[in-house]
Amino acid sequence: MKQRPADRQPAPARKTPGDARPVLVVGASGQLGTRVVRRLLALGRPVRAFVRHTARFEHLKHPRVQIVHGDLADAASVRAACSGAGAVVATANAAAPTHGGSFASVDVGGYAALIEACRQQGCGRLVFASVAVTPWDARLPLFRHKRQTEQRLRDSGHPFAVLQFAPFMDDWFALAGSALAARGDPAALVDRPWPFLQRYMGVVGGLVEKRGLALVPGGGAQVLDFLAVDDAAAALAAATDHPAAANTTLPLGGPENLSWQAVAALLSQVLARPVQVVGTPAWLFALQQRLMQPFSEAAANIMALNWLLAQPLPPQGTATAGLLGLRLLRAEDFLRGQAALPPRAEERR
Ligand SMILES: NC(=O)c1ccc[n+]([C@@H]2O[C@H](COP(=O)([O-])OP(=O)(O)OC[C@H]3O[C@@H](n4cnc5c(N)ncnc54)[C@H](OP(=O)(O)O)[C@@H]3O)[C@@H](O)[C@H]2O)c1
Repeated sequence: MKQRPADRQPAPARKTPGDARPVLVVGASGQLGTRVVRRLLALGRPVRAFVRHTARFEHLKHPRVQIVHGDLADAASVRAACSGAGAVVATANAAAPTHGGSFASVDVGGYAALIEACRQQGCGRLVFASVAVTPWDARLPLFRHKRQTEQRLRDSGHPFAVLQFAPFMDDWFALAGSALAARGDPAALVDRPWPFLQRYMGVVGGLVEKRGLALVPGGGAQVLDFLAVDDAAAALAAATDHPAAANTTLPLGGPENLSWQAVAALLSQVLARPVQVVGTPAWLFALQQRLMQPFSEAAANIMALNWLLAQPLPPQGTATAGLLGLRLLRAEDFLRGQAALPPRAEERR
C-alpha cells in the first residue's frame, strides 16, 4: 500500500500487550477507512479489513492486512470478523450508499449487530467515527443515527471511544468543485459509485480548476473548522489504545476556522487563478431535503448536510489533537500537498 504525501509524521508506535491482535476496520474500503488502515499500519498494528464482496479494496492489499468479507447487514459475518480482534475502528456508513445500503441496514441495524458482536466476542475497544454535535442534529438523518449509535455504545458496557468530527476538507472542497482536493485518493468519497453523487460530480467536478467557480452552501461568509480526513484517521487509530480515549467522547475539528471565501482565496493562491464563491441559500437545501425525502433518504440527507454547512456551526476545537499527540493539517498545507499530485481526469478534459 503506497503512502501519499499527506500521510505525514505518523505518531511513534506504542507497544501494548494488545498489539499482536489485529485491529478490525469496519468500512475499510471507504475514504476514511482506507486512511485508518494506513495509519494503523504506520503504528505497527496488524489490520483486519472488513469489506463487502462488491467493494473496491485492491488498494488495501498489504502483507499485514487480512481482508475479510462480510456485510454489516449480515450479523453472522460481523461476528466472525470480530473474533480475536484487539480493537475495532468503525467508519462504515450509508451516507453515499451503493449496492442497496440504507441508514436502517447500516447505520442503525448494522451498528447494533457490531456492538453486540464486539461484546460477545470480547473484542478490545470499539472506536466509532461520529459527527460533531450541533443544535440541529434532529433535522439530519445521518446525525440522528450517529447519536443513536453513540448512546447504544455507551449503554452496551463494551469499551469504546467516540470521535466527533468536524466537516472533512477533502470531501467538502471536492464537493464545492475542486478536483484537486480528491487527487491521489484511491477511495475518494466523490468517486463512490452512487448515481446521485456521480450525476452531481458530473456537473461540478473540476469547476474550480476549469472555471474558477466554487459552489458552496450558504453565502460564503460562515466559518467552518474543516478537518483533514488523514487527521481524522490518525485520531481514530490513536484512540484504539490511548488511555485518554477510554470510554470517552472526543470532539475534533481542524486547526483553523475558515469561511468559504477564505477557502476560495487559498484555492486561488494554490492554483494561481481567480476563484469566486457561488453560494446557494440554505432555504433551497431545506426545500430540496423535503422534496427528496419520499424518494431517497440518502439524497435528502445530502441536502440536509448542505443546509447544515450554511449554519453558524459551533467549532469542535483542537483539544483532542493535543490529547492524542496529533499535529493537525492546515487547509493551505493540505491544498499545496494535493497540488503536488498528478491531476485527475476531469482536470485534464
Ligand atoms: N465527510 C465528512 O465531512 C464527515 C464529517 C464528520 C464525520 N464523518 C464520518 O466519517 C466517516 C467517513 O467514512 P468514509 O469516508 O470512509 O465513508 P465512505 O467513503 O462513504 O465509505 C463508506 C464505507 O462504509 C462501507 N459500508 C457501507 N455499507 C456497508 C455495509 N452494509 N457493510 C459493511 N460496510 C459498509 C462502505 O463499503 P463499500 O465500499 O462496499 O460501499 C465503505 O467502506 C463516516 O462515518 C462519516 O459519517 C464524515
